[in-house]
Amino acid sequence: MVSPRLASRTWSIEGMVDVVTARRCGLKTALSLGFSTPEATKIAVVISELGRNILLYAERGLITVSPHSDTLPYIEIIAQDHGPGIEDVERVLAGGYTTSGGLGKGVSGSRRLMDEFEIETAVGEGTKIRAVKRLYRRR
Ligand SMILES: Nc1ncnc2c1ncn2[C@@H]1O[C@H](COP(=O)(O)OP(=O)(O)O)[C@@H](O)[C@H]1O
Ligand SMILES: [Mg+2]
Repeated sequence: MVSPRLASRTWSIEGMVDVVTARRCGLKTALSLGFSTPEATKIAVVISELGRNILLYAERGLITVSPHSDTLPYIEIIAQDHGPGIEDVERVLAGGYTTSGGLGKGVSGSRRLMDEFEIETAVGEGTKIRAVKRLYRRR
């Protein structure tokens, strides 16, 4: 079977336009990898939520979207910044906690949409979130 090689891409997130671009390209990548539209949309939502958090809390950062198709296909999202870091990760993961008058559902909701979700963060140093979604069934 010949399939186009899907490349990993990184976007510098400095404004809402960058979030929209990363979200749109992430959606396309997920569809190309074989995710259904509803599943690819979940991936796009996660890119959008993590990107918006970068802008809101850290001002700038990076989002990398990597498709893997070698064995069992999966897509990996890495969102990283050198912002203020997260003081209470457990509280953020529990949901409903916000420091910006938001809904406090972005991180906890993103975790539920993905298969793997890890946060590395240190106050004053920054935050790195890695999220993976696996393709369980080829379309
Ligand atoms: N990249 C980040 N850097 C620092 N703090 C963050 C970051 N992302 C999330 N947070 C913290 O986690 C809280 C919850 O985030 P989230 O679940 O997206 O909800 P909301 O953005 O609506 O507050 C934020 O209010 C903020 O305090
Ligand atoms: Mg948020």
